[in-house]
Amino acid sequence: MCSRRPSRAKYHDWNAPIAAAKTTEKNEPGEVVLKMDNLKKYYQVAANALFGSSGEMKVVKANETLTFEARESETLAIVGESGCGKSTFAKVLMGLETATEGKILLGGKEIQNTPIESRDTRTVADVQMVFQNPFDTLNPSMTVGRQIIRALEIFKFGANDNERRQRMLELLDLVKLPRAFAERMPRQLSGGQKQRVGIARAFAGGAKIVVADEPVSALDVSVQAAVTDLLMDIQREEKTTLLFISHDLSIVRYLSDRVMVMYLGHVVEMGSTDQVFAPPYHPYTEALLSAVPIADTSIEKEHIVLEGDIPSAMNPPSGCPFQTRCRWKSEVGGGLCDKEVPPIRTLADGHQIKCHLADDVLDRMGPVIKIAAE
Ligand SMILES: Nc1ncnc2c1ncn2[C@@H]1O[C@H](COP(=O)(O)OP(=O)(O)O)[C@@H](O)[C@H]1O
Ligand code: SF4
Ligand SMILES: [Mg+2]
Repeated sequence: MCSRRPSRAKYHDWNAPIAAAKTTEKNEPGEVVLKMDNLKKYYQVAANALFGSSGEMKVVKANETLTFEARESETLAIVGESGCGKSTFAKVLMGLETATEGKILLGGKEIQNTPIESRDTRTVADVQMVFQNPFDTLNPSMTVGRQIIRALEIFKFGANDNERRQRMLELLDLVKLPRAFAERMPRQLSGGQKQRVGIARAFAGGAKIVVADEPVSALDVSVQAAVTDLLMDIQREEKTTLLFISHDLSIVRYLSDRVMVMYLGHVVEMGSTDQVFAPPYHPYTEALLSAVPIADTSIEKEHIVLEGDIPSAMNPPSGCPFQTRCRWKSEVGGGLCDKEVPPIRTLADGHQIKCHLADDVLDRMGPVIKIAAE
């Protein structure tokens, strides 16, 4: 373990091979542990919430028919602009919300309609989350040790207090915090140390699936790489399925096995990291890649302007969700992009895009990021 990723700079090295983090000690993905089948989550909101109730309700289509599988030991990255529905699906998976339609199968068992308080202990322990902001998730009046022991009690881990205390100390070792931290209060910890406690809690009950929702974006830049590395090391060791929600495509390229790109509640592209980071792309993925900041001057990047804002999930466009901003739309005849939601197309084994573009147009797509030596 440990010295594979010495610095954050490595994450941003576009000359490095894809998924460089996995050149050593890579676990082969195992069985399917999670299956999302046409999952929908709509929120009802008062149309006129600010001006008293007119009684009219509007629907926010936060997740539209999400379908994907995740396997043991794999890291699936979920990317897309703010508001595209990433946290919503994580909340439904966790049981913090229930689904509007569709299924979530955890090892064959449907969990989409069971809120967290009605889930059995094993299911609660199996699906855990590392939240974006560790400042909000730790109880300020409980010692670090006590918070971890509390999680172990909820997961019904251990036969007695001694066993739980021992496990708590081992979890501190796992997240590389000194055992003396058991007695500290959250306010005595830095952001990175708090997030380590958050990681210890998430893995405390032997979770099958851990959802990390932008796990380092609230932390100081100087500690982001160390916390990300720690999370990846534990994931590999424990063979956990990690759903890594991030807007940082260079980190995603570096650590994920597969990538799912979301736009306005839809999965618009899904594939292995190599497939998603090379053409043909979904037009939205192409634009996201063009927006990645790259300092290395030997790397050329195509400049694609993503016009306008992301439309409201309360009032999504007709047809393709990306049609209001797509530069490829004119390549599709008959106004199809305005009229019909595209079907999910399979381009190669495991590589899917949701787009009307013909095969020959997709074949013409060049790379957005070009490494000069090639
Ligand atoms: N509790 C809620 N009630 C109403 N709308 C919500 C709620 N939570 C999220 N939304 C809306 O659902 C959409 C998806 O949000 P979210 O899942 O938080 O996106 P992301 O995590 O990708 O930024 C957004 O339009 C957001 O405003
Ligand atoms: S379906 Fe049409 S609008 Fe949507 S991404 Fe494809 S080309 Fe663009
Ligand atoms: Mg979010």
